[in-house]
Amino acid sequence: MKTQQVMTILRPVKDPFIHKRFVEIDAIKSVEVNEATDEVAIEIALSKLNQPENIKLKEALTNKLLQAGARDVRIVFSQLPEEQLKQYPQYQVMMSPLLNGVTKTAFLAIASGKGGVGKSTVTANLAVNLARLGKKVGIIDADIYGFSIPHMMGLSEKPTLSGNKIIPVEAYGVKVMSMDFFVEGNDPVIWRGPRLGKMLNSFFIEVEWGDLDYLLIDLPPGTGDMALNVHTLLPLSKEIIVTTPHKTAAHVASRAGKMALNTNHDIIGIVENMAYFESQLTKEREYVFGQGGGEWLAKELNAPLLATIPLGQPDGLDTATSIYQDEEPIGWLYKKMAEAVIAAVQ
Ligand SMILES: Nc1ncnc2c1ncn2[C@@H]1O[C@H](COP(=O)(O)OP(=O)(O)OP(=O)(O)O)[C@@H](O)[C@H]1O
Ligand SMILES: [Mg+2]
Repeated sequence: MKTQQVMTILRPVKDPFIHKRFVEIDAIKSVEVNEATDEVAIEIALSKLNQPENIKLKEALTNKLLQAGARDVRIVFSQLPEEQLKQYPQYQVMMSPLLNGVTKTAFLAIASGKGGVGKSTVTANLAVNLARLGKKVGIIDADIYGFSIPHMMGLSEKPTLSGNKIIPVEAYGVKVMSMDFFVEGNDPVIWRGPRLGKMLNSFFIEVEWGDLDYLLIDLPPGTGDMALNVHTLLPLSKEIIVTTPHKTAAHVASRAGKMALNTNHDIIGIVENMAYFESQLTKEREYVFGQGGGEWLAKELNAPLLATIPLGQPDGLDTATSIYQDEEPIGWLYKKMAEAVIAAVQ
């Protein structure tokens, strides 16, 4: 066994928390190889010690080295200095009170396969109903290009600054953060790739969320970059998948669901939106977009169908927003959904 072989094995490996390669961040402190006896001793500095992830990492590395011809492998982990860690956004995210478990916040990402099925409507109404049930709730509108949450909740004011923290705007008792607040007029946002991820980081680190019970994340449609970013950034986030009753929509949504499962994220349930139209006069139901998509998806992803929401606009006093009143039928369905979500998260 030669040092170079060991380095070839180590080169692609990343720190389990800040997701940077060891070689990139100068984390390989020593590699000693005895070419006569094939004994290997390595010291690697990690961003966080005493984590279950580290044990897995040690096992995986040991196995790889044994397969490559080592006879005896000793791996020691030490701590990367905080001074160095501070320069990585991922570390700041990891250390933010919201994400390091201090606030005990439950993260709920709302996803779908196709666009326009009602993710944002569901996010906004679920959040409002969790707040109506006494929970402390925030929404991150992670649809950087297609943001719609502030408009749906009737928000026109912008967030304020306190020191270097952004104070989120509140509507219906829910704190909201969205790209909408940082765009002049309704001009399109043209940011790409890395900045996209950075925006999401900033929404966590730079916003003064305070103590939250639930933070809902309204994802853009599909299984794109942002969904992946959320999955890496929030390993503990749970997912709600929205579909229409149409078979194709449900089929496409199953891909979003499988992506969540592949990255070890629980799906707490399915919401079937635009399920039917009920005539106000005859109370007859018409299944405009077909039937069964929600149920099919629930089976496919082995998750409960949390709610079936019919077609209908809010008809309360507040018709300018997409928030249903407590006392109208769809409002009541959202309340039941919120109760089901609370039960599922506990
Ligand atoms: N149950 C419903 N009944 C009637 N209209 C609805 C219902 N749910 C959503 N809508 C309307 O359908 C449109 C799309 O909904 P929404 O924006 O919530 O979907 P989305 O999945 O977030 O879309 P996008 O993929 O563009 O982000 C909106 O105009 C919304 O008001
Ligand atoms: Mg949306």
